[in-house]
Amino acid sequence: MSTNVASAFDVQRIRRDFPILTQRIHGKPLVYLDNAATTQKPQAVIDAMVRSYAEDNANIHRGVHLLSERATQAYEEARVKIQKFLNAPNAREIIFVRGTTEGINLVAQTYGRVNVGRGDQVLITHMEHHSNIVPWQMICEEKGAELKVLPITDEGELRMDLLDGLLTDRTKIVAVAHVSNSLGTINPIKVIVEKAHQRGIPVLVDGAQAVAHMPVDVQALGCDFYAMSGHKLFGPTGIGVLYGRLTLLEAMPPYQGGGDMISAVTFKKTTYNAVPNKFEAGTPNIAGSVGLGAAIDYLKALDFTAVSAHERELLAYGTRVLGAVPGVRIVGTASHKASVLSFVMDDVHPHDIGTILDQEGVAIRTGHHCTQPLMERLCVPATARASLALYNTKEEIDALVGALAKVREIFA
Ligand code: ALA
Repeated sequence: MSTNVASAFDVQRIRRDFPILTQRIHGKPLVYLDNAATTQKPQAVIDAMVRSYAEDNANIHRGVHLLSERATQAYEEARVKIQKFLNAPNAREIIFVRGTTEGINLVAQTYGRVNVGRGDQVLITHMEHHSNIVPWQMICEEKGAELKVLPITDEGELRMDLLDGLLTDRTKIVAVAHVSNSLGTINPIKVIVEKAHQRGIPVLVDGAQAVAHMPVDVQALGCDFYAMSGHKLFGPTGIGVLYGRLTLLEAMPPYQGGGDMISAVTFKKTTYNAVPNKFEAGTPNIAGSVGLGAAIDYLKALDFTAVSAHERELLAYGTRVLGAVPGVRIVGTASHKASVLSFVMDDVHPHDIGTILDQEGVAIRTGHHCTQPLMERLCVPATARASLALYNTKEEIDALVGALAKVREIFA
């Protein structure tokens, strides 16, 4: 059934929306398979940002003039688009940040600073990106709390059988990736949330690698915080979103001090603005919010079921053909995966793979992917990682496999 949906998906039409994809790299057609690092931008996003600067540029919330009103309206409209995209109950629960990393740091430095104390615990998992490890480590070190880690299997799945034992009266928050950036594992967020909530523990989800590949509904997931980046969703860099449950956001202290986050300032005391402004100090990334809104409009015009089916088919095809390349081993073989093909090749360092592939026009990422503890757990120093997006094709996966034959030739 998914094959029918996927074949109804016109990938060539989609590709025409992304101007960068027509480029040649070292004389070869660009095969862009580094989408987990960042996605390419459709012309509609580029145009929306140019229009924002060319026609509506002014600071928001402060001016009484028309340009400022237009900029403010565009910024707030983008907030509502994201609210609907994530199915958040209230637009005030959408906080603009620089990206997923800042969203997680915001929660660690506000919710964490108030709620995590000496002897408490923060629970993460062994497959987290550094940005969902280090902010928690920092607050744990500062407060004398303990960072606990839910183990994973060799296939790259969470050891859900160990979760109950790790949720204790001392656990103050659980922070977990929706989709692993290094392995592509889709984690069972709903189950984790249910178990954590039974003990009154809030859950933060790192959604950086999920939003471009599946519909995300924060109410259905039940999570308390959801962080995401615009640039991994076909939007611009430097803009992202933190969704937070309103009651929690209202109880949290501000993150940064500055303009717009205040209600009144005297040298004796400052009172703070209401959520979300309380967390948005300083001039925000106005054009970035417009670009992110345009990316969401772009995605909304597509059939996301067909997009997901196309990506599932690509992943299944990629897993099959890559796994058949002599000497290649796929790292991360969870039963529920999205968009990521991490692999190692006998006797060839991933950086050499990446360099040779680049000469063939194939862009992938190599290294530890900001998941050093995960690499150590899986006993690999690094992997080569091909990561997919809606505009990729089977022919591009064939080009990857063809380029790997060159790698083999060179290292034979
Ligand atoms: N976090 C991004 C990645 O995994 C940069 O590539």
